[in-house]
Amino acid sequence: MTLHTILKMGDPRLLRTAQPVTEFDTDELHLLISDMLDTMRSVNGAGLAAPQIGVDLQLVVFGTAEVNPRYPDRPVVPPTVLINPVITPLGDAEEDDWEGCLSVPGLRGLVPRWSRIRYTGFDQYGDLIDRTVDGFHARVVQHECDHLIGRLYPTRMRDLTQLGYTEVLFPALGLADDD
Ligand code: NI
Repeated sequence: MTLHTILKMGDPRLLRTAQPVTEFDTDELHLLISDMLDTMRSVNGAGLAAPQIGVDLQLVVFGTAEVNPRYPDRPVVPPTVLINPVITPLGDAEEDDWEGCLSVPGLRGLVPRWSRIRYTGFDQYGDLIDRTVDGFHARVVQHECDHLIGRLYPTRMRDLTQLGYTEVLFPALGLADDD
């Protein structure tokens, strides 16, 4: 098990447009995904994108088998490996909700996202993923896939007065400084 260091905002590697994965079901890809899942779970992340550990590939992992302690009031999103994703908004509806990011530790911000999306891509074996989702699931996918085009959630915010420290905004969560 290899836990990777998660890059923080300010690192230029978080600002790149990631390269597509061209080979599936390889030992190298399986090892990378295993390390990403271990890294995400070690910090109770809702998701993790390859660029966050400095890997320049269109690969994200997200979801948990159980309710995530960092987001205790949110529904469970199924554990997913998503490669070379494409997101299509369904309708014009947007919704605001609070997001955090492992690359922006200690903060939460109110971020507008499409309410309902279709997303497609591939799993680690090259099998097609094609899902229509809404709410928190749609939000997580949009957040993680933004990492593949060099976007962190503060750059999606429309009102920066709605950016703050998690421990101040949500004291009941009891999260430490670096969450
Ligand atoms: Ni993030």
